[in-house]
Amino acid sequence: MFSHLKPLDESDLDWVMQIEHQNYTHPWTRGGFERALHQGLNYLLMDASDAALGYCCLLPVLDELHLLNLSIAANCQNQGVAKLALQAIFSRFENTEYTVVLLEVRRSNKIARNLYKTMGFVQDGVRKNYYQCDIDGREDAILMSKRLDS
Ligand SMILES: CC(C)(COP(=O)(O)OP(=O)(O)OC[C@H]1O[C@@H](n2cnc3c(N)ncnc32)[C@H](O)[C@@H]1OP(=O)(O)O)[C@@H](O)C(=O)NCCC(=O)NCCS
Repeated sequence: MFSHLKPLDESDLDWVMQIEHQNYTHPWTRGGFERALHQGLNYLLMDASDAALGYCCLLPVLDELHLLNLSIAANCQNQGVAKLALQAIFSRFENTEYTVVLLEVRRSNKIARNLYKTMGFVQDGVRKNYYQCDIDGREDAILMSKRLDS
């Protein structure tokens, strides 16, 4: 069960890369995470005994927080971790300079789209053929946002 956020650092990247490869057909490279560590706000999602359950990467752009990656270890999925972690992120950034969380999600990722809808994100648009996809070439990105003051 999710308990708290912990800042992600270089020493976590071996574990993060394992989960990344388990969870995504097009995983981030280690270099991608290293860039995120320099530019963004990155967290491990921890349980009460300080074991990591997943991670998330946010990129601040002016008053926007772009949720670039949210990933839960396979054996910890479907237990409410992502929901509680998103709630913790909303709480952390409420009443700060950030007013909105933005994200892009693959059209086919029904689980993530359900999660974001459940957590109050609304659909803002579609980026046609945005993602590479193994099956038939390209796949749409669904653009979603959630205001931090609502
Ligand atoms: C998407 C992901 C982050 C969800 O994390 P999770 O901790 O398993 O999600 P939760 O248990 O908190 O579930 C939250 C909501 O997600 C949706 N959900 C979770 N598992 C689901 C499933 N098997 N089928 C359909 N919806 C599901 C539901 O809306 C659920 O809310 P509900 O329980 O009120 O119905 C996780 O599946 C994951 O890491 N997937 C691989 C990486 C990924 O796709 N990340 C998102 C990139 S945009």
